Amino acid sequence: MDRTQPELTNLAAWTAYGRHHIERGTDIPDADRINWGFWPSGPGFEVLGDLSGKRVLDLGSGMGKYAAHLVREYGAIVDAVEASPTQHERAVARHGTMPGLQLIHADAVEYLKQAEPYDVIYSIHGFGYIDPHRLLPAVAGALKPDGRLFFSVLHTNTAGRGPFQSVTAHPEVLPLAGGEPLTVHMWVLGPTLWEDLLVEYGFLVDTIDVLDAPEDSNPVSCRLFRVRRRARPR
Ligand SMILES: C[S@@+](CC[C@H](N)C(=O)[O-])C[C@H]1O[C@@H](n2cnc3c(N)ncnc32)[C@H](O)[C@@H]1O
Repeated sequence: MDRTQPELTNLAAWTAYGRHHIERGTDIPDADRINWGFWPSGPGFEVLGDLSGKRVLDLGSGMGKYAAHLVREYGAIVDAVEASPTQHERAVARHGTMPGLQLIHADAVEYLKQAEPYDVIYSIHGFGYIDPHRLLPAVAGALKPDGRLFFSVLHTNTAGRGPFQSVTAHPEVLPLAGGEPLTVHMWVLGPTLWEDLLVEYGFLVDTIDVLDAPEDSNPVSCRLFRVRRRARPR
């Protein structure tokens, strides 16, 4: 299955996003924890368990700040795949010489189809931009039996809209500091729908964490899925 139209729109938006920040010289501080939601609260690195000796992939890694955090603070060996050429360029400029971190510029699905299987794949707000019917079989094929998958996604947006009950992408605003907001198309699905898709493609869901914004006035809510690949097909 080729990239769908919403995914091509997202690639264009994330390319424009990265270009804007390169031209603006935006400096992003290094991560000092993993924020599965958008806030420095809730579960962090410990979700991933012991990563020593494991093959680990960050999917939709952006500037690579979380992958670099795992390598720097915990000595993990991490591959990080990012589709946007400009976000990848920012990642290379920032972390390109870090031993233990491999920054890969590719569509995650195309990459996964030919990758050596991983023990752990995680994604912090990457899954919402990729058609689940294209993404999930590729992730299942690139995880070892019993391999673990962790991903966080939007449950409701800044307008409190969502989740949706069909596997369809909807327009969302991608704010751009110092520029006009960009439009992306995101799969913002209800947890039951995510779970049905995950089971369909060979996973078992262990836990779904609710990650609400810390302020009562902010309607944004995210979900963190902790999943494993079934060791044997049903
Ligand atoms: C919200 S950003 C998150 C970046 C990073 N995980 C973080 O939290 O800092 C989502 C990223 O997913 C990337 N992405 C979207 N579709 C992708 C695909 N098909 N393959 C690889 N990366 C993709 C985007 O380019 C963008 O950099």
